[in-house]
Amino acid sequence: MKSEPLATAGPVTERTIIHVVGARPNFMKIAPLMEAMRAEPRFRQVLVNTGQHYDEKMAGGFFRELKLPTPDRDLGVGSGTHAVQTAKVMVAFEDACLELKPDLVVVVGDVNSTMAATLVAAKLGIRVAHVEAGLRSGDRTMPEEINRIVTDRLADLLLTPSRDGDEHLLAEGVPPERIRFVGNIMIDTLHRHLPMATFDRIRDRVPVEPGQYAVLTLHRPSNVDHPATFESILAALRDIARDLPIVFPVHPRTRARMAEFGIDTGAGGFVLTEPLGYIDFLSLTSHARLILTDSGGLQEESTALGIPCLTLRENTERPVTITHGTNQLVGTRTEDILAGYRRATTGAVPEGKPELWDGRTAERITGVFREFLR
Ligand code: UD1
Repeated sequence: MKSEPLATAGPVTERTIIHVVGARPNFMKIAPLMEAMRAEPRFRQVLVNTGQHYDEKMAGGFFRELKLPTPDRDLGVGSGTHAVQTAKVMVAFEDACLELKPDLVVVVGDVNSTMAATLVAAKLGIRVAHVEAGLRSGDRTMPEEINRIVTDRLADLLLTPSRDGDEHLLAEGVPPERIRFVGNIMIDTLHRHLPMATFDRIRDRVPVEPGQYAVLTLHRPSNVDHPATFESILAALRDIARDLPIVFPVHPRTRARMAEFGIDTGAGGFVLTEPLGYIDFLSLTSHARLILTDSGGLQEESTALGIPCLTLRENTERPVTITHGTNQLVGTRTEDILAGYRRATTGAVPEGKPELWDGRTAERITGVFREFLR
């Protein structure tokens, strides 16, 4: 029997895509995307790690737990002032781009590595996609706000996690065809790992009972680099800790400042730990009664988990966690934090889920890239 001729497919044009990671909050955003993009054989994916974070607890462990591939390039930039760190990423990333000749550079979030890689790619005429585009706190004293503005100004494809992102970009004059509302990719990673995040994983390390403790993270320079602000926050937290134990994984910046200023949490109620890995931390947060934080990502994760969150900042680039989630912006004044605590523990905080925080953002982004990289 004569076999049917095979349908003739057009020539498959391979596309090289560089994913950039550097600091802790980047890893959980790139991992699900690289996995989803494997479904498209045309995509040759390359992972570049800038090395902005380098400790096992801030970086190394995340690669293994989130099953990120070994980076194809390690730029090894490490810590430094903003100018030094940004410049080191730029110099090393330019070499990587010249050698790899990517069709697209994917950057995530708002850290210095995000902005530095975007500047390099844009100047080399390489197209840039920004995942988590359009967020604005309106506060330019935050280094992340500068990073967001520069990255979004230069990127060719702006992938937003919430509708307010689209609104900010349109108001800044970005052409609508560059903007795609895709949802929150960090929630993909959260959904995937939640079944593994049992309390038993951490029980031995934290002497608290599930549902009967708060989790605290604090690392913003505006909070921990100023002793008066740091103390004002701690005064409220000491009060709260008398009522509800507070588990506090301490960021290296914060640990250094506490030593420098001679600040400690005071007696009783606090359980200090090293920074935790992704799944251990999710075990901790998903069984908590309350979250206290100045992190961006944790505002979102607490909303996805339905756990009340007090954000210890004057502003947020994630207002959807307040309007559609469990977050309250309480600032850094002792009295305001305590008032927020009373509201959170009397159940006065509504729950909800923002649109497209459904665990399928990586798939949607892959679809956008298929079109974009025809
Ligand atoms: C960075 C990001 C911030 C993000 C945070 C998450 C910028 C501007 N800031 O802040 O948006 O929320 O990561 O953690 O990009 N250090 C270590 N080990 C490490 C990394 C840092 O000890 O692996 C210490 C160093 O003393 C360093 C300090 O932490 O100087 C701060 O690190 P840096 O990367 O400058 O900023 P983060 O505060 O971590």
